[in-house]
Amino acid sequence: MSLVLDSAAQDLLFREARTANAFTDEPVTDEQVRAIYDLVKYGPTSMNQSPLRVTLVRSPEARERLVRHMAEGNRSKTAAAPLVAILSADNEFHEELPQLFPHFPQAKDAVFGERPVRESSAALNAALQAAYFIIGVRAAGLAAGPMTGCDMEGLRKEFLDDDHTPLMVVNIGRPGPDAWFPRSPRLDYEQVVTTV
Ligand SMILES: Cc1cc2nc3c(=O)[nH]c(=O)nc-3n(C[C@H](O)[C@H](O)[C@H](O)COP(=O)(O)O)c2cc1C
Repeated sequence: MSLVLDSAAQDLLFREARTANAFTDEPVTDEQVRAIYDLVKYGPTSMNQSPLRVTLVRSPEARERLVRHMAEGNRSKTAAAPLVAILSADNEFHEELPQLFPHFPQAKDAVFGERPVRESSAALNAALQAAYFIIGVRAAGLAAGPMTGCDMEGLRKEFLDDDHTPLMVVNIGRPGPDAWFPRSPRLDYEQVVTTV
């Protein structure tokens, strides 16, 4: 009763949404990915720094290179998913800051002039954006299978560069038969929330 989002949308985004481990063959189009991005780009980040970068792995040759870096248990589902995205953090995000935070363009150097500061800020904020992205996939009526079970350094060398830190690989598509593991329990409100 306290939520204003209608119940069907709550189910789509959270209650009924699951992490998918198998998908149908239905392709995921660039238009769908664009619609997802154009929704989730509004999720908040510190100083609007927006450090998330998305690499869509579409060609069979690139998919093969990706699968080699996945943990054994993640290989077959990553090979078979209609679309796979590598989500990474851009540690040089400050270059875009004058565009993204125009009322304080000096922040580029005054706040984010040092690389270690940028790396820790990018790690937090790109992880936030990765979460928005997963919920956006669900908003498109699709299912996501995020994975950190992979050789991150191998991924970085294979697909990215020294300025990008891979965060996770996400399989995307319509869930197929046997897509779910059993739902695991969640913590109760009382276990998580304290009031001081
Ligand atoms: C950041 C992240 C990394 C994950 N890594 C893996 C992985 O490497 N392999 C895997 O099978 N599942 C992975 N998962 C899936 C989680 O186990 C799953 O989302 C969680 O148990 C909730 O499942 P549910 O959405 O079906 O309730 C990952 C999930 C997230 C969000």
